[in-house]
Amino acid sequence: MDEKPDIFFVKNGPVKIKGKHKLILPDNKPQFIESDTAICRCGKSEDQPKCDGSHNN
Ligand code: FES
Repeated sequence: MDEKPDIFFVKNGPVKIKGKHKLILPDNKPQFIESDTAICRCGKSEDQPKCDGSHNN
């Protein structure tokens, strides 16, 4: 991974990571992501740690 991702904090929503990146999940296993990810900050997502749009409800 040579390019650094950009990280955006969405007001009242997720953290969006744009670009290739690596997530380290609670089990310490790395997950290599080739595209964009939205990480839940509200705790309502049923697809943790990813945002599923539940913050809009
Ligand atoms: S930030 Fe979107 S579901 Fe939590």
